[in-house]
Amino acid sequence: MKKTRDHITIEGKQRLQGEVYINGAKNAALAIIPASVLSNDVCVIENLPDIDDVTSYYKALIKIGAKCDFRDSHTLEVDCSKIDSYTAVCENIKKIRASYYLVGALLGRFGKAEVMMPGGCNLGTRPIDYHVKGFEALGAKVVIENGMIKASADELKGAHIYLDFASVGATVNIMLAAIFAKGVTTIENAAKEPHVVDCANFLNKLGARIKGAGTNVIKITGVKELGGGEYTLIPDQIEAGTYMIAAAATQGDVTVKNIIPVHMDSVSAKLAEMNCEIAEGGDCIRVKGPERLSAVNVKSMVYPGFPTDLQPQMTALLCYAHGTSIITETVFENRFQYINELRRLGCNITVEGRVAVIEGPRQLTGAEVTATDIRAGVALIVAALNANGRTVIGNVKYIDRGYESIVDKLKSLGADIARVRR
Ligand code: UD1
Repeated sequence: MKKTRDHITIEGKQRLQGEVYINGAKNAALAIIPASVLSNDVCVIENLPDIDDVTSYYKALIKIGAKCDFRDSHTLEVDCSKIDSYTAVCENIKKIRASYYLVGALLGRFGKAEVMMPGGCNLGTRPIDYHVKGFEALGAKVVIENGMIKASADELKGAHIYLDFASVGATVNIMLAAIFAKGVTTIENAAKEPHVVDCANFLNKLGARIKGAGTNVIKITGVKELGGGEYTLIPDQIEAGTYMIAAAATQGDVTVKNIIPVHMDSVSAKLAEMNCEIAEGGDCIRVKGPERLSAVNVKSMVYPGFPTDLQPQMTALLCYAHGTSIITETVFENRFQYINELRRLGCNITVEGRVAVIEGPRQLTGAEVTATDIRAGVALIVAALNANGRTVIGNVKYIDRGYESIVDKLKSLGADIARVRR
């Protein structure tokens, strides 16, 4: 039986109630696993989410010669000391966007990298020109040919790099390539996302000298080598936000546990503006959805702004809010494709370029829909949880890439949800 044909079915109108534990951050995992390529010793990465993107990366590392073993479903032991090739070619690389981090990591380690072009979610053209400019500034020659990114340098030297946009991928990739570069590398207009900071903390634990992660300016002083170490990933801001939004959509009362509340500030603020009750604890947030949600305007931004990875879920929630809401997507050029699927449930949304206008409230009704990417898939779940009747979501493989046990977690909160194996 092929997993890719699995469906998720939801009978809507169940109130979510209870506690949900958030797993480690997907995007931190997808940066830290390749970062371990720079170490000559054993790294133990804890609190990894048990999701398909992590499995794909683990398989890609094995393919390039790393010794990797899962101690349990959330702990990976990685030993990259025996990797002797700078070439990374395998099907798993095509499955994930973050496989571009192998370019920075292999270039940093060997002064050379040849990696298949990455895959991942289709959110527009998603170029990698900032990554390339960064590698070139460090002294590498970069060409893209025959579906491969090829970078090589006689010697990597620290440089001053200004990013035109605070790109998460480019920031991490340049950081990886610069770890052993001679002198100091400065990344200006660096991304400040929590997973960028997590990756820098991991590398520093192994012996790197990175300062300023979490601010606009990151400075990397080249070191001679990295050792091993144990590291625990931060919790997933986007998974946490998804459950907070799902609670709001169902007039629920959900405590999202094992999180870093400050990472959720932009989400908490918007939900409060919509009339949700938000109560913060040390490592949790309780969200109570109101009877009447108010319309709000949301602009996706780089951190600490509202995350683009929660924009689809927020759009789904706003279908149930009273009034006109405007969502502006500023990070990706084409992140509204999922709205066609949302329309099958009966929403009233018009899209003009990067702006979506949502007229609410609409009582959505169940339908057969298809996930078009990870976050689009969970946006359909959010919409379906409060819809009348049954929704059947196809292309569950996308949701599996980024959400651990989402069906079980929602079931434990009271949702009438099931995975149908086909
Ligand atoms: C990462 C996240 C993704 C999240 C995104 C924005 C991972 C594995 N993925 O993706 O979940 O949605 O950050 O928070 O961490 N751009 C260029 N040239 C480049 C690089 C980026 O034009 O060289 C553009 C992109 O097309 C996009 C914007 O910059 O419009 C932001 O992209 P970026 O922050 O790099 O996102 P990703 O690293 O791909």
